[in-house]
This record gives sequence, structure tokens and C-alpha cells, in this order.
Amino acid sequence: MSDSFPGMFEKAAEVLRRNDMGGWTRAAPDLYPHQWSWDSAFISIGLARMDTRRAASELTTLLAGQWTTGKVPHIVFNSEAPPGSYLLGPEHWASASLSKNAVGTPRPTSALCQPPVHAIAALHIFEVSRGTVDEDEALSFLSNIFGRLLRWHRYLATARDPEGSGLVTIYHPWESGTDNSPRWDVALSNVRVGEMPPYARPDLGFVDEPEERPTAAEYDRFLWLVELLKRARYDEAKVYGSHPFLVKDVLLSAILVAANEALLEVARLVKASDEDRELIGGWIELGHRGLDACYDENLGLCLDHDLRSGEPLRVRTIAGFAPLISGSAGPRRRELLRLLYSRAFASHDGFRWQLPPSTSPEEARFHPRAYWRGPVWPVISWLFWRSLKLAGEGERAADLRRASLEQLAAGGFAEYFEPFTGEPLGSDDQSWSAAVAIDWLTDEA
Ligand code: SER
Repeated sequence: MSDSFPGMFEKAAEVLRRNDMGGWTRAAPDLYPHQWSWDSAFISIGLARMDTRRAASELTTLLAGQWTTGKVPHIVFNSEAPPGSYLLGPEHWASASLSKNAVGTPRPTSALCQPPVHAIAALHIFEVSRGTVDEDEALSFLSNIFGRLLRWHRYLATARDPEGSGLVTIYHPWESGTDNSPRWDVALSNVRVGEMPPYARPDLGFVDEPEERPTAAEYDRFLWLVELLKRARYDEAKVYGSHPFLVKDVLLSAILVAANEALLEVARLVKASDEDRELIGGWIELGHRGLDACYDENLGLCLDHDLRSGEPLRVRTIAGFAPLISGSAGPRRRELLRLLYSRAFASHDGFRWQLPPSTSPEEARFHPRAYWRGPVWPVISWLFWRSLKLAGEGERAADLRRASLEQLAAGGFAEYFEPFTGEPLGSDDQSWSAAVAIDWLTDEA
């Protein structure tokens, strides 16, 4: 355990305990009072360092909300959250009354999904328990969860990729997890918002400044897209035929490749069938090919693709480095790393810490305080750190870990950070920020 950050582990563990709702963890105390999908995966990665059984329950409670199609919804709701504390509560989604695929989940759910970090988390729980008294229990957890993870990945590989491109289609910027990133500006500008009743924005009451959250124009589009999905009764074929926002998301797709690598290892550990292993291996191959096809020679980055216009979405964001996360970069790896550590990204002269911002500061649509338009997100740094470590780039990984921990030590477990000053922004006591801090503090590398 790292002793360069005295008291930090206990403080982070305390955040997770305070946000513990009994078997699952709210993403943040006020701003996000429910169980969010990719938040939960990161949370279980931190919890694995505290209590294997509790880490496992984080994932099993989330996956109990899985739809019969295999979709893992992006929110599993907390019936005890204060009324009106989150804009789109369970009654708004009406998932179980609109779709037979959502019937039978123990708690109501949303109808979107989020990046599939879950298999990475499940394998991590087992790896942390290896050689301890918890190993057998962790292995049986893997055996129990394998089927659900496989169905989740199959859903992404089929319903979300009918083209067989190796890239996942998202129906809403929320599915990317990077809600208001300038990645989506052009595709969103083509969405015509229809008549909607006025609505309140509870999220604005939980941050210091409104500019830390998406704008009213962005929110109108977010809500309108949900409205259209409801009108299609969340039917994948109907959505694919008519929805105005259909985008191939390279970051989500790269996370899926990394998660499929983890799932393949889980499959080996639980002695899954050869057929299942071949299936997963095929998804990995296809994912690499898909990402390779999205590389833009001029920007030197991997770009999302708007299926409606047929055009790549040309903007310099952290998603452009997706092939580093999936290990798809091949001969371009060196060039991507050079760009990641260039002035356009992690090594801007004005940065207090060399940490990759969500959007390049040289991009016209960069904003240092606006959610995904510039700030540094610790969980994104964790994904890069993990892939650098797996690729044998120990020194770079160690630098990223140290800088992230220094920023968290100075600013607390905020949701995200201003990239120049490291000022904490968004919600305080964000569970996933505490969780990745715990993992970094405990990592032996
Ligand atoms: N991240 C979104 C929010 O801010 C939706 O999941 O609510």
C-alpha cells in the first residue's frame, strides 16, 4: 500500500461507505442518488480492495436489472431517493410498461446503456482475491456472473452493431458516458426538438456553477431523444430505423474490446465452452478491425462516426485515443502516445498536473469547467493507466497514477477537475473517484 498519501485510503473508503445503500452504491450523495451502470463497475474495482463480497454484490445488484435482450441499463433506480432529486426518475422511463424486455427486474431501470466496464471489474475482483481466503468465493462469483456478462456483450455486438462493424452504436450521448462532449455537437445539431413540457433541472442545484453541467440547449436534446426512444417503445429495430441520433462510439467500442479480453479470461477461469470462447475471441478481432477503420490520418486520432450523415465526427477529444484502451493501436501506438503527451493534450504548458483532459485545449469547443468539454476525469485516467500497464509502459503508467493521486489528494474525491488548476468540480464525494483512488493506492505496480 502506498504511504505517500497518508490517510487517503481511509478517506476514500469512507466516501464509499457513506454512499453505500446496502448491496449497491449511489454514484454521488445528491447529484446522482441511484445506481449508475459504469459507475458501479468502477466502484466495484475500488471495493475489491476493501471487501471482495461487497465488491461482487455491487455488480450482481446492477446486473439484476439486465433486460431480457441482454442490455444492462444505465440506471437502476433507488426507490428511497428523495422525490424530484433526479430529473428522469423511473416513472419517466416507464421501462417495464413500455417494453416486455424490461419486465421482471427487481428494481425499475432506465432504458439506455453505458460503457461496458463490468467484465473488467469482475475479473479484477477475482484477481485481487487470488491467493487469499476469498479466492474460492470470488471464483464462484465469476461462474455465476459469466452468463449475464456474455449476454450483455452479445447484446452490444448484435443489437448495437447490426452492420457487424465491430463498433457499437449509441442512441443518446448519455450512453457514451461523456454526455456533453463536443464529440456529439454536430450529430446533436441535426436533432430537431419537438414540443416538450417545461422541466426543472435538479442537477443545477447540486453544483457550484451551472456551467459545470450541460446547457439548456443540450438538455432539451437529451430529453427529446429519450422521448423518441419511448415512442419507439425501446424497440431496437424501430430505433435503428427512425432515430435521429445513431453514432458509432469509438471509446465505448474500445472499452468493449478491453472488456471482451477480460471476459475471455473469465471464460477460461470458469471453464466456459469452446464455443463461448470462440465467440468472444471473434468479437475482439472484429473490434480491433472496426477501430482501425476509424483512424483519421489528419488529426492522428480515432473518430466517432455519425451513421445518419455517414460522416466522421471531427473533433479532438480523449475518445480519439480509444485504440490505446483496446490495444488496437498497432504501429500507430507510438504516434498516439506522442499526441496524448503533446501540448494539445496532457502536456499543455498551463497544466498543474500532466493529466489528459476530456477535450483538447486547442479545440475551439474546449471549456475547462464544463463537464466533458475539458475537465480531467479520474476514471478516464484509470482506464489509460490500466492499458499502459498492460502494454508494459510501466513508467508512464506510474506517472499517470502519481499525478492522479496528487490531484485527488489536493482536491478531494470530486467528480472531475479543471485541467489547468486542478480545481475540483461537479459533485463532491463522487463514488467512482474514491474507488479508483483506492485501487491506485493499493496497486503494487
Ligand atoms: N450522466 C447523466 C446525468 O448527468 C445521465 O446518466 O444524469
